[in-house]
Amino acid sequence: MTFTSAWRSPSNIALIKYWGKHGLQLPRNPSLSFTLSACHTVMRLAVTPDADAPGLQVSYEGVPKPSFEPKINTFFSLVKDRFPWLSNASVTIDSQNTFPHGAGIASSASAMSALSLCLMDVHDQIHGGIGLQNSEWRQLASEVARLGSGSACRSVYPIASVWGKTPNAPESSDLFGIAWEHHIAPVFRDYRDTILIVSNAEKSVSSTAGHRLMEGLPYAETRYAEARQNLIRLSEVMAAGTDLNAFISIVESEALQLHALMMSGNTPFILMEPGTISLIKEIWRFRKETGIPVCFTLDAGPNVHLLYPSPYIPVIMNWVKSDLASHCADGKYILDQVGNGPKKIL
Ligand code: DP6
Repeated sequence: MTFTSAWRSPSNIALIKYWGKHGLQLPRNPSLSFTLSACHTVMRLAVTPDADAPGLQVSYEGVPKPSFEPKINTFFSLVKDRFPWLSNASVTIDSQNTFPHGAGIASSASAMSALSLCLMDVHDQIHGGIGLQNSEWRQLASEVARLGSGSACRSVYPIASVWGKTPNAPESSDLFGIAWEHHIAPVFRDYRDTILIVSNAEKSVSSTAGHRLMEGLPYAETRYAEARQNLIRLSEVMAAGTDLNAFISIVESEALQLHALMMSGNTPFILMEPGTISLIKEIWRFRKETGIPVCFTLDAGPNVHLLYPSPYIPVIMNWVKSDLASHCADGKYILDQVGNGPKKIL
C-alpha cells in the first residue's frame, strides 16, 4: 500500500539570526522570524512501507535529482526513531520552489518544513487516521523540521515564530519553534518583504559550514548574549508596534552582525556583493530623506530583504522600480510578505 501527502510550506526570514549551533541541531541563541508567503516549496511524498525495493528517489520539478538524496538520507537517519516505517520503505519525493535554488533565499527552510509535514501526515495515515494537526502536532512537525535544517523549524507557523529558549517565552525551546503571531502588533502581521536579488548564483558557503565557523570565534559568546538581548528587546518592540525606529535599528544590526561574524573568522568569507552595499546605502539615504520606516535584513547571501509596513507599498514600489532594481541581477526582485504558514494540498 502506498501513502501520499503533499504540502506547500513557506520560507522564512529571520529578524534575530540563528548563527551557531551545537549537538543535534541545537541553536546557540534564540531566533525570531517572519514567515513568508510567495517564497515557498511544494512537496509531494509517496511512501510504500515494507517495500520489495526500499530506497529513496528525489526529483525536482519532475526531473530526477540524485544530488539531493544524501542530505535527505541523513535527515531520515535522524528521524527514523519517530518514523520507524522509513527504514524499510520505498520513498519518492518531488518538489518545486517558487524561488531560485541556492540564491540565499532559505530553500532548506521551506523544503525541510514541507518534507517534515508530509512525513507527519503519512505517519498519521499509516497509523490509521488523519492526525488532528493541532498545535501539539505542529510542534512535533517543527521538531522534526529542525533536524533537517534549523531554520526550517520556524516555517511551520503562520506570521512569525521563535525558536530557542528565551526567558520572555516560557514555552520556548531549543528543540522546536513556537508560534509567535499572537505576540506581535497588527502593523507587523502584514509586513512586506521585497527581496532584491543581487545575485542568482549558488551560495558559495553552506549554512552548515557557516555555523561551524562560529566555533572558536573570539566574539562568539558576546554574539550569543547580544542575540538573546536583541530577541527580548525586539519582542517588546513588536508587541507594542509603536516604535518602528527601534524595530529598524535591531533588525539592521542583526543583519550586519551576521555578515560581520562571517568576515571575522580564521577562514573568513564575504557573502555580500557590491550590489548589496549599494542597496544598503540607498535604503539608508531614502529613509533619511523620506522618513519612511523601510529597512533591510540579510540572509547568509548577497540578497537584500526590504522590509516595510503595507501602507507604503505604492511609494516603495515606485522607488524599487526607478532605482533599486538597477542594483539587482537582471533587475530582478520578488514581492513577498508575511504569510499564513504551510498548507496541506493533498
Ligand atoms: C543566516 O537553518 O540554513 O538564515 O541548521 O545548518 O540547516 P542549518 O542552517 P540554516 O541556517 C540559517 C541561518 C540564517 C539565519 C536564520 O535563518 O536564522
